Amino acid sequence: MLDFRTMRHELAETYDLAPNPELAEEMKDLYAKMDRVVSPPDWAVAAPYVRAINRLKKEKNAVILAHNYMTPDIYHGVADFVGDSLQLAIKATEVEADTIVQCGVHFMAETSKILNPSKTVLIPDMEAGCSLANSIGAAGIEQMRAQYPGAPVVTYVNTTAEEKAHSDICCTSSNAAAIVRALPEDTVIMAPDQYLAQNVARQVPEKKIVWWNGACVVHERFTAQDLKDYRNWNPDTTIIAHPECPPEVVDESDFSGSTSGIINYVREHKPSQALLVTECSMASNISDELPEVDFVGPCNMCPFMKKITLEKILWSLHAGVDEVEVEPDVAEKARVAVQRMIDLSRELGI
Ligand code: 13P
Ligand code: SF4
Repeated sequence: MLDFRTMRHELAETYDLAPNPELAEEMKDLYAKMDRVVSPPDWAVAAPYVRAINRLKKEKNAVILAHNYMTPDIYHGVADFVGDSLQLAIKATEVEADTIVQCGVHFMAETSKILNPSKTVLIPDMEAGCSLANSIGAAGIEQMRAQYPGAPVVTYVNTTAEEKAHSDICCTSSNAAAIVRALPEDTVIMAPDQYLAQNVARQVPEKKIVWWNGACVVHERFTAQDLKDYRNWNPDTTIIAHPECPPEVVDESDFSGSTSGIINYVREHKPSQALLVTECSMASNISDELPEVDFVGPCNMCPFMKKITLEKILWSLHAGVDEVEVEPDVAEKARVAVQRMIDLSRELGI
């Protein structure tokens, strides 16, 4: 558990973190990437943290791998690499720096550690979890195996290392359908996201897919009626949904894909109005890059992703906390499932 008082006191003693309009002006090139969504006073507050983090990264030979759901100050200000879960996992295998600071949720940090075990992997808040990870547990996976003998277990990458260690292969939102299609078996167990599994089942009708009843707290909140209402308001609205949304929500959308798939779709099509049916920071992060697109929709935030802040990233680098460890025997088994996914994705050209 983070001790905020100690953290704030020690950071204030060590770094010049007072709001600084002059520094904000000096760093205006960085600010230009987010000035539509971050106010000038907020940037004056953030700039000293961004400067301190970027200096400390060099001193400590660290890199920041950040998920697409990070806030714009993190996404544009301090990340060395941004991406979806598959891209972050692949990038983790290539990191040469001593330390990875994972700006995302815990399972992403575990995946980095599994794939590049000699590195120190830090997460700025150990409580950055995920409603999907650990919703099935190793016992649940084994229960499903017993129920469907011979069926391979495809776990979503949003799982703990222990759950991955009990599966045959992992998948992410960008490769789930292709991975399931490529498996030789006719019946496939998908866990733990029921909606991802149901969406894949529609894309791969030739297989019987059975699933666990987990759900993402962000995406399960969207309803088909929400989307219809936006479309009734403006029939030209382009709707793009993450596959963690229920199938009837995906049905109402023009495209469904991973977080990076969503960003690329908007970059390519440049719709006049877009509703991104996913976490709220996604639109903020590309708003400056695509001023011609009017982003609409509710701001559904992931409470876990939002635990990661500039202040905690600075503390993480400063104090070398919190280090993410995975038991070697669990890591070894989990690595097989994650690496199989990466290798198969490469083979399939994803
Ligand atoms: P992506 O792999 O699409 O980035 O999804 C990760 C996630 O947690 C979505 O909620
Ligand atoms: Fe997990 Fe959903 Fe948050 Fe993604 S958005 S990390 S799936 S709770």
